[in-house]
Amino acid sequence: MCGIVGIVQQKKTKIGKDIVDALTRLEYRGYDSVGIASISNGKILITKDEGKIAEVVEKVNIGNIIGKIAIGHTRWATHGPPSKENAHPHTDCSGEISVIHNGIIENFQQLKEELVNQGHVFQSDTDTEIIPHMIEHLIKKNGLTLKDAIIQTVKRIEGTFAICVVSNLDPDKIYCAKRDSPLVIGINSDRMFCASDIPAFLTQTRKVVLLHDEEFVTLSYDGYEIINFNTMKEVIRKPHIVSWKPEMAQKAGFPHFMLKEIHEQPNSLADYIRIKQPSLSKITEKLYNAKKIFLLAAGTAHYSTLTGEQLIRKYAEKPATSIISSEYESISSLIDEDTVILPVSQSGETMDTIMAIKHAKDLGATILSAVNVIGSTITRYSDEVLYLYAGPEIGVAATKTYTAQTISMWDIGLELGKISGKINNAEYTEARELFNKIPSVVKQTIVRNEARTNHIASWFAKKNSSFYLGRNLNLQTAKEGALKMKEIAYIHSEAYPAGESKHGPIALVEEDYPIVFVTPNDQSHKRIISNIMEMKARGATAIAVLEEGDKEIGELAKWKLEIPKGCSEMFATIPYVVPLQLLAYYTATRKGLDCDRPRSLAKAVTVL
Ligand code: G6P
Repeated sequence: MCGIVGIVQQKKTKIGKDIVDALTRLEYRGYDSVGIASISNGKILITKDEGKIAEVVEKVNIGNIIGKIAIGHTRWATHGPPSKENAHPHTDCSGEISVIHNGIIENFQQLKEELVNQGHVFQSDTDTEIIPHMIEHLIKKNGLTLKDAIIQTVKRIEGTFAICVVSNLDPDKIYCAKRDSPLVIGINSDRMFCASDIPAFLTQTRKVVLLHDEEFVTLSYDGYEIINFNTMKEVIRKPHIVSWKPEMAQKAGFPHFMLKEIHEQPNSLADYIRIKQPSLSKITEKLYNAKKIFLLAAGTAHYSTLTGEQLIRKYAEKPATSIISSEYESISSLIDEDTVILPVSQSGETMDTIMAIKHAKDLGATILSAVNVIGSTITRYSDEVLYLYAGPEIGVAATKTYTAQTISMWDIGLELGKISGKINNAEYTEARELFNKIPSVVKQTIVRNEARTNHIASWFAKKNSSFYLGRNLNLQTAKEGALKMKEIAYIHSEAYPAGESKHGPIALVEEDYPIVFVTPNDQSHKRIISNIMEMKARGATAIAVLEEGDKEIGELAKWKLEIPKGCSEMFATIPYVVPLQLLAYYTATRKGLDCDRPRSLAKAVTVL
């Protein structure tokens, strides 16, 4: 995820300031680096640097740039760490064509090789930089116009993109194209905007045109022309007036970032699946050959490592152990050169995790991590990194990054199963097919449970305490669900192995006491029914996260949160957590709490 914006206008003004204002409203899309390309005296001027918008504006004074045309970008790193070189805009060899991009180009390695062989020199590690070089090549070697060269370039790109191009070869126009990544146009009397999202220009205009996939736009100060870049047919689309207020729009119409991020999960999981990472096979091979494996993480990430631990044990038959980062001391005497440490982290900056891996690295351990933020400290200490590609998460309570962490554990697990022979070829193919369906199962799960969780929340919000019970892999789901309820709704919630709940927790159960049961249709089904009966006999009110059509559990539970039928038992830990995220969210909002900023909690804990 990155934020992109472009402005083309009739008169010369301090356009840099307007680009900065627009980017500031898109900063939720990325904050690793910032850059702008403007045209001054017939030449492209690039101003960019690493850092958040406020820092970069202070360093390189973007606000003072004057002109009629400019494009700007705020980056969320995917290819190459945050740095000045990797900051957008990127240019061709001659510096005449400048491009900003949001998305991921899947065939960039192959295209880059072709361009390097043709003599193009690259300045960055990004996938984006191939675009200006391809355009340059098509203009200089094939004699195409700028517009045709851009169209031919986007046709060859595989993957997702929203791009904006400016060039001194055609200095009054911004050319844009999109596939899968968002792009909208804003219309004013003497200036036009293009951006990743409406808030970028909402203070200037409410008149917008939403672009569709495979569309190419020519933007000048007095108009826009849309064509489908495959058929080359013109598209007539009239603007419409949006009624959003700027702060609403930034959250894409959702009242909180947390809810927006819950809803983003089908996309973030699809991104994870789509992006093939060479590090996956290296990580699984090293895990398979390791003598000792420890998974390290804090908070929500720890629960994903509990899934990882079980999958490594099952599929690689290795004694893997998940340790909370701040408890690293308890295993430090076991670390040596034969040890593999697998830290999992959203931010890559959690101090407890960093201190533990630093120590382990000094003792010769191999560090293989799963991290969301590219270029973060944990990635720099790692021998190999599997990126989570969940995009920026603004809500303090982790949601989409938990499902991304969990899917990465399954990805590793499946590969280990294949290497070890615990999963044969046919089973592997079937498992991968089911794996690819996870985003759509999550999407259906959100649709089915949104109203239900909101309804249950009015009752849950009056409670002071609750239990979350699960078995096997879904004990982790219960733990993560309980953590969400605790973190944002401030209701004491304790997760327990369902079978263990009679050894203590049951003593607290009284009339109408809330107990959430995570009950997929797996081998634990029968036993969890007994656990529900035991609790109900003491007056508990059962909320079950169950498979659609599960009559046995459905009859016992007062409230049912349904997962679509046919959801693979194998990957159940991913969809089953989603209703629990929604339940915590709606319970907190019923209590009037600010879910995005829960009291005393921080997104990244950078102290010991
Ligand atoms: C904090 C956050 C949690 C997060 C944990 C670990 O407690 O509030 O949401 O799970 O840190 O953070 P990491 O960035 O390492 O995943």
